[in-house]
Amino acid sequence: MKILVTGGAGFIGSAVVRLAVSRGHQVVNLDALTYAANLENVADVADSPLYAFEHADIRDRAALDRILATHRPDAVMHLAAESHVDRSIDGPGAFIETNITGTYNLLEAARGYWLCEGRPEGFRFHHISTDEVFGSLGPTGQFTETTPYDPRSPYSASKAASDHLVRAWHETYGLPVVLTNCSNNYGPYHFPEKLVPVVILNALHGREIPVYGDGGNVRDWLYVEDHADALLLCMEKGAVGRSYNIGGENEATNIDLVRMICAHLDTLRPQAAPHERLIRFVADRPGHDRRYAIDPSRIRDELGWHPSVTVDEGLRRTVAWYLDNESWWRPLLDREGVGQRLGTG
Ligand SMILES: NC(=O)c1ccc[n+]([C@@H]2O[C@H](COP(=O)([O-])OP(=O)(O)OC[C@H]3O[C@@H](n4cnc5c(N)ncnc54)[C@H](O)[C@@H]3O)[C@@H](O)[C@H]2O)c1
Repeated sequence: MKILVTGGAGFIGSAVVRLAVSRGHQVVNLDALTYAANLENVADVADSPLYAFEHADIRDRAALDRILATHRPDAVMHLAAESHVDRSIDGPGAFIETNITGTYNLLEAARGYWLCEGRPEGFRFHHISTDEVFGSLGPTGQFTETTPYDPRSPYSASKAASDHLVRAWHETYGLPVVLTNCSNNYGPYHFPEKLVPVVILNALHGREIPVYGDGGNVRDWLYVEDHADALLLCMEKGAVGRSYNIGGENEATNIDLVRMICAHLDTLRPQAAPHERLIRFVADRPGHDRRYAIDPSRIRDELGWHPSVTVDEGLRRTVAWYLDNESWWRPLLDREGVGQRLGTG
């Protein structure tokens, strides 16, 4: 298949690009190269005849029309987004423009292209979204695909809006869409402003490890390479108009996750005292959702997918990757906002 991946220079998009090329798909990576992007993430496939890069912004409709007409993809996998909740608190405008208006542009461009091509039945517009659209859970229960939307941050509200647009383009215009809502990803090539790489890199440098609030916020941790595998499956085999929740079946509180990372560092890069000594509880994020949990029954029962690694094994691989790839992360530490406390409201 020929797949147009938006946001393919980011964390999850690059995992999709690498996996898709390794499986023999042709991939066109469309990315605006914002602060969160890094073309090093796709260096392994950059010379492949199956890979092409288009430097473009999803807010630029003319560019989208040109790219679709030039490459004539069989599917669009839409991952381009502003993705950091803390940044959405400080500057929500970019989230509205890219996540909502950008998705609208891409939908219209894809609809125009699909109509021009004679409405091919096999065409797919796969929208990649988050479990954060469902809001915050109490101590029990899980999000299913029919859980009502209840977003609570500018980021999750913008993603919820984009999900609604994608469903509307299916119901109103018949565009063959698939949606996925996944839980927190972690793994190699994760930009060093998100929790897991912040913990690894602060611990390595002997700096304090900040944990928001009491550290009791629960997330369902999904290894990024498992996520990329699930995404390709949903794009190829998912039912048109259907959404699939993707989880790692790995619920953990933030503090437990941080302690697991410290334990792997103690093994792989021991210091005189355990890395846990660096943990500090800091002021919580405003509106910090308490718990997310995914009910993965639909993707498991209908598509036969389940995650391949436990959070402990995924974290071990991730810590080892950061230890082996300083040349990847070191230059990113100089990017705007990295290493600073953002989103305090
Ligand atoms: N990281 C997670 O844990 C997680 C969880 C659930 C869902 N998601 C969703 O998955 C997708 C990818 O997330 P990620 O963590 O890889 O994000 P990321 O921030 O690492 O990467 C986003 C990519 O999109 C590109 N981009 C941003 N604005 C653009 C624009 N206007 N035009 C073109 N490209 C643009 C960036 O340059 C970057 O390469 C997002 O839609 C996000 O909402 C992420």
